[in-house]
Amino acid sequence: MEEKILSIKNELISKLADCSKEADILNIKAEYVGKKSVIQELLTNLKDMSVDDKRKYGSLINNTKKEMEELVNKRLEEINNQVKISFDDSIDYNINVGSLHPVSILAKEVTDIMKKMGFTIVAGPEMESEYYNFEALNIPKDHPARDMQDTYYLDNNMLLRTQTSGVQVRAMEKYGAPLRVCVPGRVFRNEDLDANHENTFFQIEGMVIDKDISIENLMYLMQVILREVLKSNVNVRIRPGFFPFTEPSFEIDCSCTICGGKGCPTCKNSGWIEIIPGGMIHPNVLKAGGIDPNEYNGFAFGLGLTRLAMMKYKINDIRVLNSGDLRYLEQFKIK
Ligand code: DAH
Repeated sequence: MEEKILSIKNELISKLADCSKEADILNIKAEYVGKKSVIQELLTNLKDMSVDDKRKYGSLINNTKKEMEELVNKRLEEINNQVKISFDDSIDYNINVGSLHPVSILAKEVTDIMKKMGFTIVAGPEMESEYYNFEALNIPKDHPARDMQDTYYLDNNMLLRTQTSGVQVRAMEKYGAPLRVCVPGRVFRNEDLDANHENTFFQIEGMVIDKDISIENLMYLMQVILREVLKSNVNVRIRPGFFPFTEPSFEIDCSCTICGGKGCPTCKNSGWIEIIPGGMIHPNVLKAGGIDPNEYNGFAFGLGLTRLAMMKYKINDIRVLNSGDLRYLEQFKIK
């Protein structure tokens, strides 16, 4: 009797292992533990057995039946899970691995270069006060320089920053002198859009404050950055500029890589692109940051990151960068 019961159980185990469809398992369930199953028949026949045999086999048959039911249910569960997995596998998710935006790639490249030269990366708020964005930078309320940087004024008396330069005085206040910081960030302007102008773009501010800093230090750093990033022999020119927060001020232009300097809509037919404006920090700005201009001096610049991306990747229209057009932006996927 024991052997018979054991062999029924083993038969069930091997049949369960062989089948992988829910319907087949349900058939096996009916055959082995259902109302008309052999084990059920054995249970029914118990009544004809002697009291001793009843005691002996009753619990064995009952326990085995229970075990077999558990085996069947377990197998059903397994199959259901497998079904789910194969169902999931059958879906074409069309997984698209994202790519870094060209401006992000370049921000990392430039800040990596600057980090190696001892600069710390700091961030500032995109919603800025008039004080840090203008006044602390020696641009008082009615200064005409504000015209060039009209922006979005918010209801809470703040504005969307027009330049990363606002972080200059914030950094001075926080860290004091000497100081070497770079500030990559998004800035906003009320602009008429064209191939070369956007209302939202990116800059990297650079600032060095120490003793006896000279214009040569500024020129050297700008050259290193442009050489490393553009990795080609673009022509660079320096010309005088004007910014209320630097004295003297400069504009560094690079020859337009789109037209090779011949003139095109991107460079407004001049053959040149303004890429890094900068200069020696105005004493009033140092004072606003709590730094004594008689003890320290320094330089600052505001690299046009979006423009540099256009020059590096030969993008002839700035508007594609904010377009979200993946057909375009995916070209910069880092492999
Ligand atoms: N913030 C200026 C702009 O957006 C660029 C600039 C000019 C930054 C001179 C500087 C600087 O740090 O020294 O037009």
